[in-house]
Amino acid sequence: MTKAQTAARIGVVGLGYVGLPLAVEFAEAGHHVVGLDVDASKVKALRAGTSYVEDIPSERLRALADRIHVTTRYADLAQVDAVIIAVPTPLTENREPDLQPLISSGAALAGVLQEGQLVVLESTTYPGTTRDRLAPLLEESGLRAGRSFNLAFSPERIDPGRTDYTLRTTPKVVGGLTPACLKRAVDLYSAVCDEVVPVSTPEIAEMTKLLENIFRTVNIALVNELAMLCDRMQIDVWEVVRAAATKPYGFMSFSPGPGMGGHCLPVDPFYLAWKAREYDMQTEFIELAGEVNAAMPYYCADKVAKALNDQAKPVRGSRIAILGVSYKAGVGDLRESPALKIMSLLAEQGAELSYHDSFVPELTRFGLESRPLDDVLQDADVAVIVTVHPDLDVERVESAGAAVVDFRGVAGQGRAAKRAPAKQPARG
Ligand SMILES: NC(=O)c1ccc[n+]([C@@H]2O[C@H](COP(=O)([O-])OP(=O)(O)OC[C@H]3O[C@@H](n4cnc5c(N)ncnc54)[C@H](O)[C@@H]3O)[C@@H](O)[C@H]2O)c1
Repeated sequence: MTKAQTAARIGVVGLGYVGLPLAVEFAEAGHHVVGLDVDASKVKALRAGTSYVEDIPSERLRALADRIHVTTRYADLAQVDAVIIAVPTPLTENREPDLQPLISSGAALAGVLQEGQLVVLESTTYPGTTRDRLAPLLEESGLRAGRSFNLAFSPERIDPGRTDYTLRTTPKVVGGLTPACLKRAVDLYSAVCDEVVPVSTPEIAEMTKLLENIFRTVNIALVNELAMLCDRMQIDVWEVVRAAATKPYGFMSFSPGPGMGGHCLPVDPFYLAWKAREYDMQTEFIELAGEVNAAMPYYCADKVAKALNDQAKPVRGSRIAILGVSYKAGVGDLRESPALKIMSLLAEQGAELSYHDSFVPELTRFGLESRPLDDVLQDADVAVIVTVHPDLDVERVESAGAAVVDFRGVAGQGRAAKRAPAKQPARG
C-alpha cells in the first residue's frame, strides 16, 4: 500500500520501544494511527509531543501530531482497519511466561472488535499463542478468527539504538491464520517495510523470532564462557574474537560482556523452554546459556574485587565508579541490566558506589544520580566500564589514574587497533 493509494487507519496497542516507532512509521507513511497505552503518563507525554523512546526524537513525533491520536480508551480502536498489539511479554517471578498484559489487551480489544478488522500480534511469545490464546480471547466478541476478522503474528525485530537497520530496511516475517489473514498482514506491512517475508502459519513466525533470539543468547553465553577461561589463561579474548572475525565464512562473532539485559534475550528463550516441557523436552542449550549469562555479573563483581585487592584495598569502603548502567549502548533501558546486579553485589559488600551514564539520570533503587565523568573518576579507586555509550571518553577513563576494569573490551583499543585492524564483532 502506498501513500497514493488508500490511507489506512491503524491501531497500535502498547506504545513502548516497539509500539511507538511502529506508530510513527505508519503515520509517516501517510496512515492515520490510533496509539493506545494503559499508562496514562505515557499518553500524556505523547499528547504533549514528548517522546520517551530514544529512537524517536520529539520533533519527529510533533510533526505527526495531526496523524497520531493517542489514547487510553480501547473504544477508539473500533474505527481502525488493523490493530497491532505490542504489549510486554515478561516472565513471572518463577520465570514462566506472564501473558497477563496480552490477555488483558486481548480481552479489552474483544469488547470493541469489528467485523473485517485485522489484528496482528507482534509481542514475542511461544508458538501457539496467537492461535490458542489470542484468537479465543478475541472471539469473545462473537466474531470468528479467520472468518469475520483476520489474525496474524509478525515478530518485531527492532534493535533500539541501531541506525544501520530500520523498520523499513529490516525484512518483516508474517504468518497468518488463513491465506486471507496472511495477505492482509503482508499488505499492511508492505506500507512500511521494503521486504515482507510471508510464512505458512503464525506458529512458524512465532518460532522464527525465538530462534533468532535463542541463537544470540547461546552464542553470547559461549563467548562469555570463553572470556572467563581466557581471563584465567591470561589470553586477551577481545583479540581472539577480532582475529576469528577475519574468517570470511563459517564464523559469526559475538562480543563478551557483563551479562545479558533488556526485555528480550534474558526473557524470550524461557518462553520456549516453558512450552517445550509440555512436549516432554528439556531445552538444554537454552537453560545452559541462561545459567552462564546469569553468572556473568557475579564474575564481574569478583573481577572488581580483585582489582581492588591488587591495590591492597577491600571492597568495603572503596569508591567504585560504574560507567554505563543501562543494558546496552545508546539507550537508557534498565530492564534486566547486568550493571544493576553488579552494583547490588558490590553494595552488599560495602562498596561506595557512584555512576556515570548520560542516558540514565538517576537510579532511584540505589539513591544515586548520574555524575559527570570527571567527577566520578576523580574520586574512584576503580572505574568499571559496563556499558559504552557513544559519548563515553574511554581515553579519559584510562588516563584518570583509577584502576580500570573493562567488561566491553574497549580499553586499550587504540593500541589494539594499531596491532590488529579487524572487523568489529556483532553486537551482543
Ligand atoms: N524492546 C525491544 O527491543 C524488542 C524487540 C523485539 C521485540 N520486542 C517484544 O515486543 C513486545 C513489547 O516490548 P517493548 O520493549 O515495546 O515493551 P515496553 O514495555 O517498552 O512497551 C510496552 C507498552 O505496553 C503497555 N501496555 C501494557 N499492558 C497493556 C495493555 N493491556 N493495553 C495497552 N497497553 C499496555 C505498557 O504500558 C508499555 O508502554 C515484547 O513482547 C517484547 O519482547 C521488544
